[in-house]
Amino acid sequence: MTMTPSTYAARRGRLAAQIGQHGIAVVPTAPERQRNRDSDFLYRHDSYFHYLSGFGEPHAWLVISGSGHTTLFCQPKDMEREVWDGYRLGPADAPARLFVDAAFSVTELDAQLPKLLDGRDAVWYPFGIHKGLESRVDGWLSSVRARARFGSLCPEQQRDLCGVLDEMRLTKDAQEQATMRRAAQISAGAHVRAMQLSARMLRDGQQVREYHLDAELLHEFRRHGSQYPAYGSIVAAGANACVLHYRADAAPVRDGELVLIDAGCELDGYASDITRTFPANGRFSGPQRTLYELVLASQEAAVATTIPGARFTDPHEASVKVLAQGMLDLGLLDKDKVGSLDDVIEKRSYFQFYMHRTSHWLGMDVHDCGAYLEPSELGMGSPRNDALTGETVMNRPARVLRAGMALTIEPGLYVRPADGVPEHFHNIGIRIEDDAIVTDTGCELISRGVPVRPDEIEALMRA
Ligand code: GLY
Ligand code: MN
Ligand code: MN
Repeated sequence: MTMTPSTYAARRGRLAAQIGQHGIAVVPTAPERQRNRDSDFLYRHDSYFHYLSGFGEPHAWLVISGSGHTTLFCQPKDMEREVWDGYRLGPADAPARLFVDAAFSVTELDAQLPKLLDGRDAVWYPFGIHKGLESRVDGWLSSVRARARFGSLCPEQQRDLCGVLDEMRLTKDAQEQATMRRAAQISAGAHVRAMQLSARMLRDGQQVREYHLDAELLHEFRRHGSQYPAYGSIVAAGANACVLHYRADAAPVRDGELVLIDAGCELDGYASDITRTFPANGRFSGPQRTLYELVLASQEAAVATTIPGARFTDPHEASVKVLAQGMLDLGLLDKDKVGSLDDVIEKRSYFQFYMHRTSHWLGMDVHDCGAYLEPSELGMGSPRNDALTGETVMNRPARVLRAGMALTIEPGLYVRPADGVPEHFHNIGIRIEDDAIVTDTGCELISRGVPVRPDEIEALMRA
């Protein structure tokens, strides 16, 4: 199911209906970014811009009026530049190809924007995202004001567009879901390949390094048409798994240790985000399996709560409960020191081994946009004293899950050596992360093309 120009036109129509008949929205794409001399980072469009246009060239802007009339500013045709940088759509062909109403060269932006803003009551743009945009808008508004004696009317309000677009993007339509399913399927295949390569190389007596597995992931992503990884892949051998933002590096992958891989491809603008933890040689040791099964049980508890009508925080709370009980049962936490399960949760003693949240929204951005609080209940906060930090925290009702929302479910355990921590668990880091789309009755795990049960992982790695 591919997105067509009419998909984007319909989104612009829905946006226009929300900014008011006399409003106007200005949405730039992302700038090109230099990596080092004469060399840029691979270009990635701005997600808001792409959500509304499907257009992937840099130096482009959308201006959408409250009536839905859309003007695109884009790079002009330039045969000399196109020889170096590639094809440009150009303003002449843009209306037919993108279903916009008008198109200009981006060199016309400063000349046209004051005319487009004239007579509007509010100008909407994404706040705090594009460096220098606020002053650019101020400049256009000054130009409108300067023409007051000719009857120009300057918008009186500047409004943040992010909230409106975040709400739209939070619920994924059927086309978006189809792309996300495909992205997750490709990523799952990449995890399978990395697991199998690790076991095979060790069986063959070869030295394995983290980059061997990283290369396997990239190969699988690209050979299925993914444009790039959705984020920097984590391939963490042994104790490196306890570094939450570790990146695939050159450490040896040793027989007997676990490997944690957190990697997902981006496909046609949509991210996937999968973590698997597996024994490098294909066989879990006793302590590894014990901790793995605890994390898996905590993930199962979280999945069971990922249903429409539940709160965004319910999967996290379900995970924490299982993990904290396991920490007490396995002697990671000393009951005599930390007290009961309720005490561990209340005082957040589990933080020593589980210090991140269980979920985030997933979509065009790996940590996708969307309010984590329920908009209709924003006023219902109550202050709470956090037992771990001593800070006062405002508790507000979390977002209610609805069909079409997409989120990760990713509990973990990270055991750094410390006094009182059983030695056989030292340096084990485990995370299990799947991607879920909320359905009418529960949730669909779209990333289960790579197994998650220990026996299935072992069978796969023997194959
Ligand atoms: N890979 C980023 C995350 O899991 O949130
Ligand atoms: Mn994640
Ligand atoms: Mn991840």
